[in-house]
Amino acid sequence: MATETVMRCADALARSPYAERTMETTSRRVAAEVARTIADERVAHADEIVRAAAAAAKDTATETARQVAEETSASLAAEAAARTLKESREAVAEALGESREAVRETLGTERRKVEEELARTRAELDDTQGQLTEALGRTRRELAEAREEVVLSAGRFARDEAVRVVAEAVAEQVPPVVEVRVAEADPVRVGGHSHVVLPDVLLALGAGCHVLLVGPAGTGKSMMARQTAEAFGQEFHALSLGPTTPMSKIFGYYDAHGQYHGTPFRSAFEHGGLMLLDELDSGHPGLLAELNQALSIRSCAFADGMVAAHPEFRLIATANTYGTGGDRQYVGRQALDAATLDRFVVIDVPVDEDLEERIALAHAPSRPEDTLRVIEEVRRLRATAAEKRLPVMFSPRAGIDAAKLLQAGASVEQAIRWRVVRGMSAAHRSALGLAADGGEGAE
Ligand SMILES: Nc1ncnc2c1ncn2[C@@H]1O[C@H](COP(=O)(O)OP(=O)(O)OP(=O)(O)O)[C@@H](O)[C@H]1O
Ligand SMILES: [Mg+2]
Repeated sequence: MATETVMRCADALARSPYAERTMETTSRRVAAEVARTIADERVAHADEIVRAAAAAAKDTATETARQVAEETSASLAAEAAARTLKESREAVAEALGESREAVRETLGTERRKVEEELARTRAELDDTQGQLTEALGRTRRELAEAREEVVLSAGRFARDEAVRVVAEAVAEQVPPVVEVRVAEADPVRVGGHSHVVLPDVLLALGAGCHVLLVGPAGTGKSMMARQTAEAFGQEFHALSLGPTTPMSKIFGYYDAHGQYHGTPFRSAFEHGGLMLLDELDSGHPGLLAELNQALSIRSCAFADGMVAAHPEFRLIATANTYGTGGDRQYVGRQALDAATLDRFVVIDVPVDEDLEERIALAHAPSRPEDTLRVIEEVRRLRATAAEKRLPVMFSPRAGIDAAKLLQAGASVEQAIRWRVVRGMSAAHRSALGLAADGGEGAE
């Protein structure tokens, strides 16, 4: 419509000058109006456009906004999600950290608990182990004690058995009683251990003879004299002679008050009894000469007068030599003159090794085996000394004393060293096959 108006106005304008002018003015006005209208239309249109545009814009904006919003919300959501994720992550991390910490703490606590428990268990274990070790030690000790006891009992049993066997053997070997019958007289009996020559001595004495027992030291001479007194049921008197033994010891003396003092010899001579003159070869020659008279004529001049011998007077003398004077072993012995010797039945008293063994065993009933070892060594030494003619003595007395030492608790080595080979020179030790250091064979 605006265009038609414009066209009409333009035609009228073109046909008149006025019109021209008017047209011009009108056209101008119309133009202005048109222009205005157009402008208005345009404006309206523009407004419409603007509205449309606005609407569109609004729509677009809305869409955009929506998109944007969506995007934004998406991004926001993403961001939120990311943040949430991050936060979650952080939270998780924190939680994780906390958990870790908690776990660590729990772990630490648990570990401590476990460690404590472990330590307690270990301590208990140590304790138990200690108790076990102690119990084991105690058991071991008890076992050792029991074993020792068993060994001891076995040893005791074996020893008792050995002693019993030895005692039986001894009982079998040794007739408990030595019986000697002299002519028509009653038989005489001796119980216990006795020397192999005892019956000879009893026989000689029973025959009314005086007896001189000659033999090395410790073979049992003095003991035999005592046994014979018992066998004859007689009182036993003894006097040991030495170079300084005075006459008065045999024949008695008067004191300052005129009182006579008798002697054992006087008692036996006058009232009957067995007189032992020990170590006759040590006696002074003058004293022996005085004795000769009493022994031959059975009458003796005592300080208070002559006394006749009792029929039951018996005399045993002992000597280590045959009256030939001293030698390297028996120094200071007197030579017994022929007259003295002539008054005695001389009986050799050698070492009776069976007797030596029996006596030694009797003195050490708890150590028979050790005693036999000692006796064996004594015999070996004795044989070696005799073979090599060494001036050393291994008497039965030594073996018997060694047995007493064993019984008292000494070792075999001690018993031999203290009693058998003591004080011996190095040369003799070597000749006898003994160790130079004094160790006499280990236990
Ligand atoms: N028949 C026996 N019964 C028990 N012990 C005995 C017996 N014979 C000897 N003895 C003992 O032997 C040891 C030596 O004996 P005795 O003293 O009689 O010997 P001896 O020959 O007289 O010695 P010595 O020549 O040194 O005087 C003594 O300890 C003694 O107790
Ligand atoms: Mg003697």
